[in-house]
Amino acid sequence: MAAAHISHGLYRLSVNLFNDTLFEGMWPLPQGCSMNSYVVKGYDVAMVDGVWGMDPAAPAALYRQLQGMGSDVGDIRYVVINHAEPDHTGWLKSLLEMTERVEIVATEKGVEIARSFYGADANYRVVHTGDTIDLGKGKILRFVETPNVHWPETMVTYEEFTGAVLSCDLFGSFGALGMAMCDDQMSGEQLGGYEDEALRYYSNVLAHFSPSVARAIETVKELDPAIIAPAHGPIWRGNPQRIMELYRRFTSFVDGPAEPVVTVIWGSMYGNTEKAIDPIVRGVTSEGVEAVVHRVPQTHVSHILASAWRSTGIILAMPTYEFKMFPPMAAVLEDLGRKQVINKLAFRVGSFGWSGGAQRELEEIVERQKMKWQFLEPVEFRGDAGVETLDLLKERAAHLARAVKERAVCRAAHPYSSPSLDGRGSGGG
Ligand code: FEO
Repeated sequence: MAAAHISHGLYRLSVNLFNDTLFEGMWPLPQGCSMNSYVVKGYDVAMVDGVWGMDPAAPAALYRQLQGMGSDVGDIRYVVINHAEPDHTGWLKSLLEMTERVEIVATEKGVEIARSFYGADANYRVVHTGDTIDLGKGKILRFVETPNVHWPETMVTYEEFTGAVLSCDLFGSFGALGMAMCDDQMSGEQLGGYEDEALRYYSNVLAHFSPSVARAIETVKELDPAIIAPAHGPIWRGNPQRIMELYRRFTSFVDGPAEPVVTVIWGSMYGNTEKAIDPIVRGVTSEGVEAVVHRVPQTHVSHILASAWRSTGIILAMPTYEFKMFPPMAAVLEDLGRKQVINKLAFRVGSFGWSGGAQRELEEIVERQKMKWQFLEPVEFRGDAGVETLDLLKERAAHLARAVKERAVCRAAHPYSSPSLDGRGSGGG
């Protein structure tokens, strides 16, 4: 990978993570993930955000790309840390061994966090909203604090000459980047793929901080950016409004009402609960509502979070297991609660052989996690569901879908491209 010219005096360096890495140690990366770093060249050179240091090949790749554009480590005057998390700052250990000249620029909390990771002796500079650094040749970096876009120390950097907002996690997405790295270099299909991965990234990493992300989007809008250059995923140079609007849509789902979509999460031990899924899906789609179906534990919760985040309704179908819920379902519910999948319309379907108990555990988790889900009356069946039960399931799923249509805040689902992950298909109509 070589350094890429983005706009006048603005370059992007990058390292891709691939599927052998779990993002944050837990989220799968089937399409990879890019870690973008930016170089702004005036008379002085600034690097804005960087790459992780867990693999020494990452900083080495950054230095090679820097050399490829006619600079080297000794030329770097400033390193701007928009966000101190080590996926963007891990390389600093190696950089600080190579040069003492560099000044590390961050918010007050950013400096505090950076000191804890990279030592107190480096040359730090604290900046606040409105502070600037003039690099010469018209290149001025202006800093704008946007706290709690993931961590509390976050800010964005606005480069005044190009109108680029270097936004770090904000407006980011999973998905590795190749030669095409800007939206104006990609097909609609490629962009759709990155939008899928933006949703998964958002729901996995940023969802918990949605109110802060919403405030940060408004702050960035006031800058009227010509370019949005995040630290993960594509650079939005042709149409920066597109990613800002998509992210605004994501943040609005924190209230519960979202797209006219029902996420169906199910687990089965011997096929009896599985038999309930087809009538449930038929009930949902008979109302023109999209059903996205995930089987647990076969599907990683990363994907379930993505569809649950954009859904107005959730259906859970699982057997009882030792007086409680099927354990993989309980684990997924805990994660949905942690990630603020709240205020959803919901319906539970349970099967059992000799004892109930799943409902009690469900209520305990929903209450403890303050999820505020509003449930239709559950349907429980013993052993093999008969025709009457299957008909009831279809009708109740249709009932939920009707309520979802009324409550959804978007008239239609966004045209994300990912199919249902357990092969049962999805789609409205
Ligand atoms: Fe990309 Fe919150 O780090």
